[in-house]
Amino acid sequence: MSTISASGTDVPPAEVPDYPMTRAAGCPFDPPPTLHTLQEQAPISRVRLWDGSTPWLVTRYEDVRTLLADPRISSESTHPHYPHQSPATKERRRQSRTFITMDDPEHARLRRMVTATFAIKQVEALRPTVQKIVDDLIDAMLAGPKPVDLVQAFALPVPSLVICALLGVPYADHDFFQANSRLLVKRTTTPEQARAATQQLTDYLDRLIGDKLAHPTDDLLSALAGRVRGGELSRHEAANMGILLLIAGHETTANMIALGTLALLQHPDQLARLRASDDPKLIASTVEELLRYLTIVHSGRRRVALADIEIGGVTIHAGEGVVLANDIGNRDPAAFPDPDRLDVARNPRHHVAFGFGVHQCLGQPLARVELQVVYGTLYRRVPALRLAVDPDRIPFKHDGNVYGVYALPVTW
Ligand code: HEM
Repeated sequence: MSTISASGTDVPPAEVPDYPMTRAAGCPFDPPPTLHTLQEQAPISRVRLWDGSTPWLVTRYEDVRTLLADPRISSESTHPHYPHQSPATKERRRQSRTFITMDDPEHARLRRMVTATFAIKQVEALRPTVQKIVDDLIDAMLAGPKPVDLVQAFALPVPSLVICALLGVPYADHDFFQANSRLLVKRTTTPEQARAATQQLTDYLDRLIGDKLAHPTDDLLSALAGRVRGGELSRHEAANMGILLLIAGHETTANMIALGTLALLQHPDQLARLRASDDPKLIASTVEELLRYLTIVHSGRRRVALADIEIGGVTIHAGEGVVLANDIGNRDPAAFPDPDRLDVARNPRHHVAFGFGVHQCLGQPLARVELQVVYGTLYRRVPALRLAVDPDRIPFKHDGNVYGVYALPVTW
């Protein structure tokens, strides 16, 4: 690792390592080993991305949090040095601007329009609805043939049904929007495919906003349509916000359900602790620990420095790209003792799996309720749940901006 330098822009290009994102064979739950080495030896250093750019990579927990909360760090994806995840993400961000890649005050103006829906109190009121969705899906699974793919039968429908109800999107269209959103979170998607998928989703959401303008119902898209009518929001902004919420609302949580289930099945001692208890505190702690341990939004938070920033003996210059690696940050021994051990009783609420600062996940109260209901129900109702294939045959999303599994064959 002696070639990795923590100095500034004078690093010879040949010495800058590629940004490692693929998890090592046989260690599907752990960040790539190179990230561990960087965290120990060169915690703020340059990496090379797919387009040849060499932004800073920040790997220590404390530095990740500090920079995510720093107003001199921008999320603006139109900046020429914004470190995009892939050609597809770059194209999608260009075509569909949403507040996740905007700075305040524009970001705050748009985010404020939807915060009430995702506030803890509002979301807690949805807990019985989420419980019913989870119970119904488990009933259907138990009544059907086995083995079954847990992703299709359970992990994907739970958050998809919930976000559809909240937004007022017809769940009957799930094949359409899931296929397009899957393309948009894959690094191997071409810009042309990303453009087409974004356009299809934009047209779809625009049509729905049109319907809600004509016939408002009791859902978030109707509330956004109301703001369009009142002149606070353009119809295009409303459709883009719908796309952001629809994709973020099911891609992430679905992966947490499937990958988290696999992680528990592969750590039977931890699963036994969860099964032996119906203490809501242990269930909540299990959810936080799985969020930390798996950090499925694993491709680093992407930012640009707006001013020179001194941190960890390095100067990040104004205009330089920055990647804040929250996955390895969540495995920093300075923040989480024995960080590579899954410990369902740890309750690591200070993790950065939902990010940190003004862009911290808007949907986290909803994700928490969904995951708490799932982890408090699935293994209790299906105590014999187990893998139906050899673990080596499970297809991991090594090519995804969100990590997870494409399928999880299980039986009981
Ligand atoms: C386990 C599930 C989830 C994980 C791990 C997750 C993770 C994240 C992360 C890391 C960010 C920060 C992005 C950044 O700093 O650049 C984020 C932002 C966001 N998330 Fe989530 N998320 C989850 C579920 C959800 C759900 C259910 C929704 C509901 C719609 C949602 C909506 C959003 C939105 C709108 C933002 C942008 C916030 C902003 O820019 O102000 N997420 N999420």
